[in-house]
Formats: sequence, structure tokens, C-alpha cells
Amino acid sequence: MGRVHLAHLLHFLIFMPATSASAPGKGILFGEHAVVYGRPAIAVPIKQVKATAIVRPLINEHSGFVRIQAEQINLDSTLPDLSENNPIALAVRSTLDALKVNQPPAFHLRISSTIPIGGGLGSGAAISVAVIRGVSSFLGKSLETERISELAFDVEKLYHGNPSGIDNTVVAFEKPVYFVKGDPSEFIDLKEAFTLVIADTGKSTPTRDTVAFVRSAWEADKQKFEALFTAIGECTKRARQILTAGNPTDLGPLMDDNHFHLQAMGVSSPELDNLVVTARQEGALGAKLSGGGRGGNIIALVRNNGDSERIKATLTHAGATGTIVARVQ
Ligand code: PMV
Repeated sequence: MGRVHLAHLLHFLIFMPATSASAPGKGILFGEHAVVYGRPAIAVPIKQVKATAIVRPLINEHSGFVRIQAEQINLDSTLPDLSENNPIALAVRSTLDALKVNQPPAFHLRISSTIPIGGGLGSGAAISVAVIRGVSSFLGKSLETERISELAFDVEKLYHGNPSGIDNTVVAFEKPVYFVKGDPSEFIDLKEAFTLVIADTGKSTPTRDTVAFVRSAWEADKQKFEALFTAIGECTKRARQILTAGNPTDLGPLMDDNHFHLQAMGVSSPELDNLVVTARQEGALGAKLSGGGRGGNIIALVRNNGDSERIKATLTHAGATGTIVARVQ
């Protein structure tokens, strides 16, 4: 190996070590859809699942070369080969722009995730945040959490069309958030931890589609939908009081109410309703769909005394294709 090449290699190994970054999933406890219309929503990080980005230097490639690999979605490409509308490419490009790096040292970005894709658990936002964190830390630079959240928000627009911003906020800050579109985020210090059982219907509808459906239904009957959004907003406000005062088991009936309003909006589905009813019958304190709806996941609030394993098993028996027990604290 020539001296110049060796020096180059040593520089890479010393100054550009491989880095790994991750970001959690999220669950919307209250307020999905209503949040798009200015009502508050509450979301919590789900740390039992996460997206991970590993960035390694590529010593034999010219600077500016970027290879992106995500086996779960059969992606293996170089950055210039990915279109402007590719969310991962957008996350990489906007990170480089934000850091004012035109020609980064060549790198390989590898993405993996344990968050179900398209299930309302924030997989898109978590991948964006993990990529932004991974690329910036590989380059030895740091970005404020608020900036990471903003960059991830721009990517969310590709997924959602007109997102409220709740997903990128809870995933980037990794804290429970009381969120009102356009207002500074208010993070909630939980007085007491609680446990959720999350169950996947195995079906999914893009959030963009359910958001568009609600938009046209609202346009057709504004009075009905404004009343539903307001009723959901009241559940969310009451839930914030409970979370900051303690006694989170009191959230159960509010979750049931919120699900009832989401059904009235037309964003539930027979599969979601089946899992919600099953969880309640099995002793959950309350249950609702979480996220865009028409598929994806339900969340059920359970007591912490071993109920979770029984409810989880019953939900699987009732057709859930995946379950997660999440302690929220
Ligand atoms: O990404 P999802 O499916 O969890 O849905 C986000 C929640 C919505 O209120 C339906 C949309 C939004 O942008 O807030």
C-alpha cells in the first residue's frame, strides 16, 4: 500500500469512525386527525421499537459518493440515483445542506428498523431522525434537536402531504408531547408510568389517504366534523391533566371516547374495532386506534400486574399480526 493511500486510510479510520444512531417509534394517545384542524393531540415515544442508521466511511470511493442501503424495503442505491421524492434521500440531502457540506467523505448508510412500516407507529419519522442523526454525527457535527425535528418534518411532507408535525416532534425529542399545530411544543412530565399493549391489524392505509378522506368529509359536513374534532380535543385536554397529576388508569374511558369519535369520522375499520373490543373484553382499561387509521395499530391501556401478557396473547388469537408491550415513562 502506497504511503499516500495509507495516510488517507489512517485519516479515515481516526477521524471518520463508523457511527450508529437510532430513533424510537411513537404512539398517538389522543387527538389524531383533530390535530390537523388545530386541536391538541398527545403522543408518546415507544422506545421498545426503533429505527437505526449506521454510517461507515468508504475508503476506496471518491468524496461525495454515498451508498444507501435498507434491506427491509429492498433499497440499495447511490444518492444521485434516488429521486427528489425519495424520503431517505431527502433526509440525507437536507442534512448535508443544513450542515453546509457539499462534498462529504464517501460513506455507506445502512438503515434498519423494528418499527412496523405504515402502521401509525412513526416508522417514517424515526427513519428520518435516525438518518439525520447518523449522517451528522459521522461528519463530526451536531444539530439541535429542534433542527433535527424540522428537517424530519420536511420529509414527513412527502409521506403525508400536509402533516401536523406531531410525529417528527415526539420522535426527535423522545418525550411525551402535548402538541398543537403551529404552537411551541409542550413536553409532558409524566407523574406516573403506564403500560400499553399495541396490536397490529396487519393491514395498512397510507396516512396521506386517511387525511385526504377526512378533509373531503369535513368539507362535505363541516358542522359534524368540527364538533367531532372539538370532542376529541376535550379528551386530549382532560388526558393532559391526568398525565401531569398521576393516576393514568383514568385515561382508559377517555381512550374509549376518542375511539368512538374516530369511528364516527369513518377512519376505523372492522379489524381495528375487533382488536379494540377484544382488548376491552380482556380487561384493558381503554383502547383505541392510533395514527391515521383504516388499518395499522390499536393501543390498549393495561394494568401493570401481568394483564399485558394475557391481553397480548388474546389479541394475537383475535388476529393481531404483531404485538408490543410498551412501558411509557
Ligand atoms: O403517521 P400516523 O399514521 O401516526 O398519523 C399521524 C396523525 C394524523 O393526525 C392522522 C396526521 C398528522 O399529520 O397529524
